[in-house]
Order: sequence, then structure tokens, then C-alpha cells
Amino acid sequence: MKEISEAFLNLTLWMSYGDFMSELLNRISEFLFSDMSTISVFESDKNMRFVSWKGFEDLGNFLFRPKKIPVKGRVFYEEVLSGVRKFFGEKASNFLWSRGLDKSKTVMLGPIHSDRVPTGIVLLGYRDDRVITKKMLRDFRIFRSYASMFITLKKAQERERNYQKGVITMMTSLLEMRDPYTLGHSTRVASMAANLARFMGFDRERIDRVYWAGIVHDIGKMGIPESILLKAGSLTEDEFEVVKTHPALSESALSNFSWLDDLKPIVRHHHERWDGTGYPDGISGEDIPLESRIISVVDAYDAMTSDRIYRKALSIQEAERELLDGAGSQFDPYVVRMFLKLLKSRG
Ligand SMILES: [Fe+2]
Repeated sequence: MKEISEAFLNLTLWMSYGDFMSELLNRISEFLFSDMSTISVFESDKNMRFVSWKGFEDLGNFLFRPKKIPVKGRVFYEEVLSGVRKFFGEKASNFLWSRGLDKSKTVMLGPIHSDRVPTGIVLLGYRDDRVITKKMLRDFRIFRSYASMFITLKKAQERERNYQKGVITMMTSLLEMRDPYTLGHSTRVASMAANLARFMGFDRERIDRVYWAGIVHDIGKMGIPESILLKAGSLTEDEFEVVKTHPALSESALSNFSWLDDLKPIVRHHHERWDGTGYPDGISGEDIPLESRIISVVDAYDAMTSDRIYRKALSIQEAERELLDGAGSQFDPYVVRMFLKLLKSRG
């Protein structure tokens, strides 16, 4: 007999929510020999949604309000539909019934809790009149508490990340306070870069990465003296050498946030040039991360279309002209083309 602890092998906090739930469901179904199963969780305060299922037709995108979350694992040998109705409510039960639950004769239902608040329901269905043993109920409970633990930890992780995002946003606004000409620059670059990434067909995770790289790309300017940062005239060679340290400073500022590791190369290379004459490493072409090439174009566009201490803003047409002129030398020509297309589509 397989031990229940084995069934939890390789289920870790590092998995995404969706992957974890579907893998957990696979293992519950296998361990308890169910023919069909589903996990549903609260999407908002009131609405639930099925996050994973097995042996059912597609249950995605269906929202419902449960009637009453069961406190303990419940078992129904007969009248499966009315039993399920008691907890899922009329609408969701009929939905489950029409998608495959009509083939069940026995159903086991149990709640998932997080911080003692009900957050989900696990349902296991059997085609035959199954005798549910005490051991099965116990194993079912252990599986559910594992799901509860995962949800609780994920929530804590989420809270922690939101807190850290708050700290980062605060740091960038402090940076922008030093130089009124850059007010709002990071958030504008971040949202434009994210829009461009979406326009270029990036997946959600990558769009998010581009956004946060946009927010933090210049955070290292905190380490540049104001006498240089706010200088009205042109910079001396030595002063420019100091300015050139800011991408590496931004990169090292992220060291305290291990979950932002992916942003480090993007931030480090946002001043590289397509022709290899940029800084800090002088890499060229596709050796520069695509995300950095995106930030580079959007960053230049925002800088050109805003007033700076040393010059007035360019018009949108002039800025577009400048981007085209720089395509192939300063900028990735493909990214410039996509960006101009995006601007055009938005009028
Ligand atoms: Fe920069």
C-alpha cells in the first residue's frame, strides 16, 4: 500500500497556484481511486470557480455562489444530486451534473480552509456504490489540509510581495522627487513598456516582468550625486562615467529581493545600444535581452517627450523621427517598428 506521504512528493510552494491544484487533484484521485473530481475555490468574497477537475467536461470560467461550505468531509451514497446541491447550490450542481456528475453514485465532499476561513471545496465522485472507510475519510482530510496549507502560504507570500512592491514604488517616487523633471517617468515607462510587450505577444508573466523592470530601471540613480543628476549644462567625461554606473547600481539594489532576480539582467542592460556602443557592458544586437531593448526605446521616447532641465520636450512627431533615426544604431529596429505601430494604433 502506497503511503500518503509519498503522494505529496514534489508538491512545493514554488509551483504556481494552478499547477499545484491540478497536481494535487491528480494525486488525490489516484490515491482515493475516484472516477471524477474537482477543486473549487473562492474567486471573490462570494463567487467560487472550479480551479481543477478530472473526469469532467470543461468546468472553466463557470462562476457560482455556494450554498453552504461543509465543515467536515461528507459522504453521500444516495441522491448524489441533492447532497451536492446542499453545498454547491442549485446552479452549480446542475452544471456539474450535466458535465459528468450524473455518472456518480457516491460522492465525497470536503472543505479547504485558510486561516480558518472556508476557501474551497474538494469533490470526489465514484461511479459505483462505494463504501467509504474511516481511513479514506482521514486521507481525504489530510489532502485537504495540504491544500489549505498551500493556500495560506501562497497568501502570505503574496502579502510579502505586495509589501515589497510598495517599498520599491516608494523608492522610485523618492528618486523622482529629487528631480522634478523625471516625475512619473518610471510609471510611464513601465506602463508603456508593458503595453508594448503585450502588443508584441508576450505572455502575462513576461509582461509583468517588463512592467516591474520599467519601474525599477533607474532606481540606481539614487546613488548618483545631485550635482551631476540635476546639472543644467552638459556633463564632463568624468561626470558621464558616474552616470554610467546607474544600471549596475539598479541591478544591485534588487539583490534584496530574490523573487526579482529575473529583472536584474533587464535593468543592467537598459542603456546598451543595438550597435554595441552602449553601457555598461557594450553588448550588441540580440545579446541584449529583448526586455531591455523594449525599455530602451520607451525610456528614450518618454525622455524626449518630457521637459528636461537641459531642454524642452520634443513634439510626438519629432520624437518618432528620432526613434526611426536611431533604429539599427541605438535601438533594435524591430522594437522601434512595433512601438511606432502601437502608437499609431492608439492614435
Ligand atoms: Fe537609465
